[in-house]
Amino acid sequence: MLEELFGTGGALEAIWGWPPPVLDPAGPYAAPVTRVAWVLFGMGVLVTAIITAALYVALKGPADWRQKLGGERAIWIGGVAFPGVVLTALLIWGLTLTASLSSSITGDEPRIRVTGEMWWFRVQYLGPDGEVVMEDANELHLPVGQPVVLELRSGDVIHSFWVPHLSGKKDMIPGRTLLLRVEASKPGRFGGVCAEYCGGPHALMGFVAIAHEPDEYRDWLAARTARLATLPAATETPQPAAARLALAAVEGAGNPAAGDIGRGQQLFMESGCGACHRVAGTEANGLAGPDLTHVGSRLTLGAGILANHRGTLVGWIGDSQSLKPGNRMPSYDRLSARELNDIAAWLEQQR
Ligand code: CUA
Repeated sequence: MLEELFGTGGALEAIWGWPPPVLDPAGPYAAPVTRVAWVLFGMGVLVTAIITAALYVALKGPADWRQKLGGERAIWIGGVAFPGVVLTALLIWGLTLTASLSSSITGDEPRIRVTGEMWWFRVQYLGPDGEVVMEDANELHLPVGQPVVLELRSGDVIHSFWVPHLSGKKDMIPGRTLLLRVEASKPGRFGGVCAEYCGGPHALMGFVAIAHEPDEYRDWLAARTARLATLPAATETPQPAAARLALAAVEGAGNPAAGDIGRGQQLFMESGCGACHRVAGTEANGLAGPDLTHVGSRLTLGAGILANHRGTLVGWIGDSQSLKPGNRMPSYDRLSARELNDIAAWLEQQR
């Protein structure tokens, strides 16, 4: 199954590639990190070559070479001066460079709060006063050519946020907010991972960043905001949009595979999904799990591990424990295939 998901041509490669390539920068904050990586790698190769040559001389070289190699001068130069100078220079260079990546965070860039949770990422788009204007999960949309400041937090243990195309990694530490600036220089989908072992399904804690052309990003944001504005406040009785239900009734007439959206919403509420998940405009207002207000438009399910479509939605709800063992959502295997399909049909509408 892993090969089908992650292998060449697998489902995930179609979305954003796995594993995310670490030496393929797509932005100004990733390029210097890549440069450091290559220089360190190059120095590593050089030092290994020198040591290998010295070892060869020590074992098989002519007697006078061996004597020089064992002499005090060689030890002072090769054993003290060379590593001292090279390592100090690399350290200073690396520190200056990484410091420049996080200096000048001015505060007027768009801010997005990303919180590591076991085992997914909470994503909150912040307004000018730091208020949350939109919540999503495991997916980050950003405009091309514009720096975005991420406020990295943790809801439980230490995680680490890493989208190698866009920036270096940075830890998400409980009780602290660390800033990380990212910028994409071209449109695309960039995979990310949690880069700090955080227990259980840590290896299945993925992420995707989606960079849009600026006007496309504006339209995307406007469409989302407009939809949120049409939703009733959470305290009101949920009213699935009449038009949506009517359309679904037409589409679904005589076709159980289409799913009964109204029934799906009812089952979602009755099954207690709302205790952990919030869906704006309904009485589901749980905060423990990912916000599902926009789940229908996400690329992935289960935090970056599955392409998002009807089949995977049904599979995830029915048996998430097989797909991501140890995750905090129980498998709803008491629901019938038809019921799962209805819930999935309703969730698909949450865009
Ligand atoms: Cu979160 Cu590893």
